[in-house]
Amino acid sequence: MSRIHGQGGQLEVGVRSVPELFIRAQDGSPRRSSGPRRRLVVVSNRLAPVERGKSSTGGLAVAVQTALQKSGGIWFGWSGQVVSHAVEAPHIAPSGALTYVTLDLSRQDYEEYYNGFANRVLWPLFHFRAGLVEFRRQDLAGYLRVNRAFATHLAPLLRQGDLVWAHDYHLIPLGCELRRLGMEQPIGFFLHTPFPPTELLRILPNHRDMIRALCDYDVIGFQTVHDLKSFRDYLMRELGAQDLGGRRLRVFDRTIRAEAFPIGIDVDIVSNLAIAAAESRQTRRLRESLRARALMIGVDRLDYSKGLLARFEAFEQLIEHFPERRGQVTFMQIAPPSRSEVPEYLEIRRSLEAAAGHINGRFAEFDWTPIRYLNKSFNHRTLAGFFRESRIGVVTPLRDGMNLVAKEFVASQNPADPGVLVLSCFAGAASELGEALIVNPFDRMEITEAMERGLSMSLEERRERWQAMMATLRRNDITAWRENFVGALSAAVR
Ligand code: UDP
Ligand code: G6P
Repeated sequence: MSRIHGQGGQLEVGVRSVPELFIRAQDGSPRRSSGPRRRLVVVSNRLAPVERGKSSTGGLAVAVQTALQKSGGIWFGWSGQVVSHAVEAPHIAPSGALTYVTLDLSRQDYEEYYNGFANRVLWPLFHFRAGLVEFRRQDLAGYLRVNRAFATHLAPLLRQGDLVWAHDYHLIPLGCELRRLGMEQPIGFFLHTPFPPTELLRILPNHRDMIRALCDYDVIGFQTVHDLKSFRDYLMRELGAQDLGGRRLRVFDRTIRAEAFPIGIDVDIVSNLAIAAAESRQTRRLRESLRARALMIGVDRLDYSKGLLARFEAFEQLIEHFPERRGQVTFMQIAPPSRSEVPEYLEIRRSLEAAAGHINGRFAEFDWTPIRYLNKSFNHRTLAGFFRESRIGVVTPLRDGMNLVAKEFVASQNPADPGVLVLSCFAGAASELGEALIVNPFDRMEITEAMERGLSMSLEERRERWQAMMATLRRNDITAWRENFVGALSAAVR
């Protein structure tokens, strides 16, 4: 891995131009954008692992990696390392058409920016969990400091024709910091999480400054039209923004474009992985261990936003109220630990361990364990095989920006005998996948009933629902997401 130093010098990272930029036409077919090719520079806190074959957990890294594989470019962000010395220069690691440029974080930055303001203020607030918000001015200062440091290290790498695309709640002020350094390239921002309604956002003591900084981006993208509406509502009500039509708004003497760009998956890649994994060693081991029982599966980072406790309790109700299901169905929850140093994550982990232990203690037989609870991550190939083996996919977050697992579950199914998706109405994916069994995760019995309905659903109905969802997944795939966003960004006039 090579290193470059400081700012100000003529630094060049050898990355080839984005091969082609496309904009999706109204009819959904791609059309070539006019104008010269432009290099795409993506910035996010979390990057996919540089090592080939290693997969990441977390929708942002998975989606950006898939999107960038085709376009190439630079991917700038945190290295994932916390160091005790001062952070001086980024690491550079070329990988095919993509170059990773990463910065370490000092322990203080990690505590204040990542564990603190990003994950104890913005994350809970953006997931409608005002009661979990722990605001400290010191953390906010750390958040602003890291955004400034990212901009300082990124600016010398930028070329005039670049398109800069920042991602997620960690980097709201990044665009503003780049502007302060004189960067004039089009800079866009995509929020992977939900965007809260105005009254919730007002809880954030610095909400005006944050939104002012957000408005320094040229294009601001959201997962769903609900998120977009909340953002527009804030701009209109709190800031008196003017709607210019055509998704453009005038605010702080600038014109910005705000739009929904629902994130998707590469349907063929996921389906092919699932086909290939159907007879893999791991899938066969899973199948044998099930002994012809129906499998229900959940795959989520261990996060309180994912509604795991309610899901466990819904499953408990299933085997309590439908005794004929005892010994006939196994629920496997894969939940790799996430943000483990944040107290709320320790707390949810403890609660889930207790719940799984309680349910298994109550119902297990010498030859049947109702819940298999795994605190580890699996790669995409293994997951695709497990999804294909499952009769039901349970995706019941209390709030989620999109939820890629829901989409991956659908794409992994066997067309001849597809499984059923039970999906929370509060996942962004529910706006697109209306043919899933949509549930309100705050009503545990509704989840239980959907589980039962899925277990007894006819093949014909399963096929119909699955085909409709697959058509949507193909229409709004990961390529459409990238092309639409990048198209909007290229069209941003500066
Ligand atoms: N994932 C994975 N291995 C795991 C758990 C999750 O590769 O053990 C992936 C999953 O396949 C999906 C992503 O991590 O691509 C999770 O994205 P999602 O949008 O569902 O949730 P997020 O974690 O971003 O909140
Ligand atoms: C969500 C967030 C991402 C984040 C991911 C994993 O998808 O929207 O920004 O990367 O969770 O969380 P982590 O804190 O490990 O990056």
